[in-house]
Amino acid sequence: MKIAILGASGQLGYDLQPALQSHDVTPLTRNEVNVTNFSQTRDMLLEIRPDLILNTTAYHRVDDCETHPELAYQVNALAVLNLIRIANDLDGVLIHISTDYVFDGGAKQPYTEDAVPFPLSVYANSKLSGEFLVRALCKKYFLIRTCGLYGRAGSQGKGGNFVETMIAKAKRGESIRVVNDQVVTPTYTVDLARQIARLLPLEQYGLYHMTNEGSCTWYEFANAVFQLSGIDADLTPTTSDVYKAPAIRPRYSVLENARLKQLGLNEMRHWREALAAYLKDKAPQR
Ligand SMILES: NC(=O)c1ccc[n+]([C@@H]2O[C@H](COP(=O)([O-])OP(=O)(O)OC[C@H]3O[C@@H](n4cnc5c(N)ncnc54)[C@H](OP(=O)(O)O)[C@@H]3O)[C@@H](O)[C@H]2O)c1
Repeated sequence: MKIAILGASGQLGYDLQPALQSHDVTPLTRNEVNVTNFSQTRDMLLEIRPDLILNTTAYHRVDDCETHPELAYQVNALAVLNLIRIANDLDGVLIHISTDYVFDGGAKQPYTEDAVPFPLSVYANSKLSGEFLVRALCKKYFLIRTCGLYGRAGSQGKGGNFVETMIAKAKRGESIRVVNDQVVTPTYTVDLARQIARLLPLEQYGLYHMTNEGSCTWYEFANAVFQLSGIDADLTPTTSDVYKAPAIRPRYSVLENARLKQLGLNEMRHWREALAAYLKDKAPQR
């Protein structure tokens, strides 16, 4: 299958490349294709003529989205509309990545694909708009919601991933406060990339939740990072109210991989096992 990956230098885009190595993959970084340049994106993709467009791009600096809503909607919704039109014109498939933040966090148990979204921030609204466009207009799509990504490529847009940020702070001897009232499922991009690769050939299009298994607060995740890395850090829990981030985050955004499980396809391991694998995988590269 001929595949074009947009956002190829990002965390997920980077790990998708080895996961899809049996396919004919063209990785496209922001330098090669800026998805907000609609004609450039269209020209490039019509030249490549992929069977599958895999969009990992996003404007996901969640707090900055509050003050830059136009940019959020441009990247997370309008650029997606452009990709939908291109995919339809090529009679191809679009894979688009969305977020746990489309939910308001009022649930007490993991959100399945049937749960009704209620976004709380500009970022979340812009991502949900992208989702609506995909679901309404795209002929063949996989729409994948995930949560708390970390991967070896780090996330340039966010200034490094959470795990590396924690380790760097501890190594600098900083006292570290992390929120203990937002429950998530941290997800390793290698696992997500492999799960996407497994789903691809089946043509079971539609909406999927895809995260590692289990759940924890960001504080508990930071604690696990230090435990598994053998780092003695000055870590204390805090609350979202004390932290006062500009954008409201859901207090609970755990996703159930319900559709994958129904299809007998769920290969996602527990987040703690995935974190241990990440720490091991990255070791020789440093
Ligand atoms: N990170 C998370 O915790 C999380 C959680 C839930 C869902 N998601 C979703 O998962 C997807 C992948 O996230 P990620 O963590 O892999 O993000 P990432 O590491 O920041 O990668 C995103 C990539 O998109 C590129 N990009 C951004 N704007 C672009 C534009 N206008 N044109 C072309 N490329 C552009 C970035 O380029 P630069 O490197 O030049 O910035 C980067 O390579 C996103 O859709 C995100 O919304 C992420």
